[in-house]
Amino acid sequence: MKLEKEKFYRILAPRPAVLITTADKKGRSNAAPFSFVMPVSSNPPLVAFASAPQRHTLANIRETREFVINMSSENILNKLWICSEKFPKGVSEIEKASFTKTKSTMVSVPKIEESFGWLECILEFEKEAGDHVIVIGRIVDVEVKDIFWREEKLDVPKAKPLLHVTGKDFVVAERVVSVD
Ligand SMILES: Cc1cc2nc3c(=O)[nH]c(=O)nc-3n(C[C@H](O)[C@H](O)[C@H](O)COP(=O)(O)O)c2cc1C
Repeated sequence: MKLEKEKFYRILAPRPAVLITTADKKGRSNAAPFSFVMPVSSNPPLVAFASAPQRHTLANIRETREFVINMSSENILNKLWICSEKFPKGVSEIEKASFTKTKSTMVSVPKIEESFGWLECILEFEKEAGDHVIVIGRIVDVEVKDIFWREEKLDVPKAKPLLHVTGKDFVVAERVVSVD
């Protein structure tokens, strides 16, 4: 069947549902889920995500140039959902969702302890694209919890990464298939 073109991303799915943490100039933290996310370059290490222009996440990145991409597992689904609610700017979704906030290594923005891995980023540049803004970040630190790293790869059945279909629907990645 043909779909409305505006809905194309609903079959470019499921996509990793990450939580992006940021802070404003006053140091007030923010967390929001994003799934328009992709790796861009490995050397230098660059990652991109697309943000609607009105997101507090984008406003904070423009203020401080820093953000952390926090990887999500099945066990944080309900808390991640709370972070997608609209709160006034300056209200921390990290606290609203009762996430544990911890210090990052290279950036002043906090990260979420419950995540299985973290990409600490500095804004490289942004580019308006249609009704979104593409944010490109340079990764200045990357960490994964030891129990989820096996033979130089993410242990997917253990990490159970959360992927977004659309709306309230998610997929939990659990099964790895390998080429013979
Ligand atoms: C799983 C999921 C993925 C989302 N992905 C995006 C996205 O890629 N880009 C975007 O602009 N908004 C996305 N949103 C919506 C934002 O998370 C939501 O509007 C949030 O309130 C923004 O928070 P902020 O204003 O504090 O940045 C997504 C929401 C969910 C639940």
